[in-house]
Amino acid sequence: MSSSVEAARTALLRAGSVAVLTGAGVSAESGIPTFRSNGGYWRTHRFEDLATPQGFARDPKFVWEWYEERRRSIASATPNAGHAALVELERRVRRFTLNTQNMDGLHDLAGSKNIVKLHGDIWVLRCTRCRRERVDRTVLRELPPYCECGGMLRPGVVWFGEMLPEGAMERASDAVHNADVVIVAGTSARVYPAAGLIPPAMERGTAAIEINPEATDFSSDVTFSLRGPSAEILPMLIMDGGNYGS
Ligand code: OAD
Repeated sequence: MSSSVEAARTALLRAGSVAVLTGAGVSAESGIPTFRSNGGYWRTHRFEDLATPQGFARDPKFVWEWYEERRRSIASATPNAGHAALVELERRVRRFTLNTQNMDGLHDLAGSKNIVKLHGDIWVLRCTRCRRERVDRTVLRELPPYCECGGMLRPGVVWFGEMLPEGAMERASDAVHNADVVIVAGTSARVYPAAGLIPPAMERGTAAIEINPEATDFSSDVTFSLRGPSAEILPMLIMDGGNYGS
């Protein structure tokens, strides 16, 4: 395992196909709290109450108040230099897939195109009765909100114990399987099935670059473990010109 940004950049420059897995840490420098690090949501909130179908069934208003508070704070956040660096990488590499566990929409806002949203999208509202979905970025005045069909709406995110959006894992696994380089940025890699994308790549010998200020369970097994905030490291890795896939 190497900690050299320079060596990781050289490996990346050779890649014709890149798959990325991001987590909450990528949005930390946009002012959005993570889940498990210091100041993370799950340090002070019970995920069982806020991020499970059972919690929602027990008290939908309580769950919605938390999501609405998050929606309001995310609405005033802007993408950071790490998000921008991934947009640049997508422009320059032949094949690129951005698999994200983030539901904040900042990768879209930055301009990333080929995104697989493994955990859904906080800006999507889904009807619990007719299942219709719509994107809604407005402030929700009545909580819980209701659909025109009379059914209660829920946040379009994935909760613990739920299936991932149809086809999402297949797309993500395919991208990782076909990648020359895999980048894992800003995730504790503790939540499955998303975290399960990493080991097969390493078993195949695909170069893996991890970016995280802290060590994770995978840090000693990846090819490059770059310690630091993604808003600093991703631009160092990507912005410096060069032709990819050569
Ligand atoms: P976590 O909160 O588990 O992990 C965030 C990671 O980001 C940690 O490893 C931090 O060390 C790292 N980090 C902190 N600041 C950073 C920075 N500036 N730059 C880069 N990395 C930084 O968040 P996730 O791994 O995204 O799911 O969590 C996965 C899932 O668990 C979430 O999607 C959510 C959560 O419960 C659901 O709600 C289903």
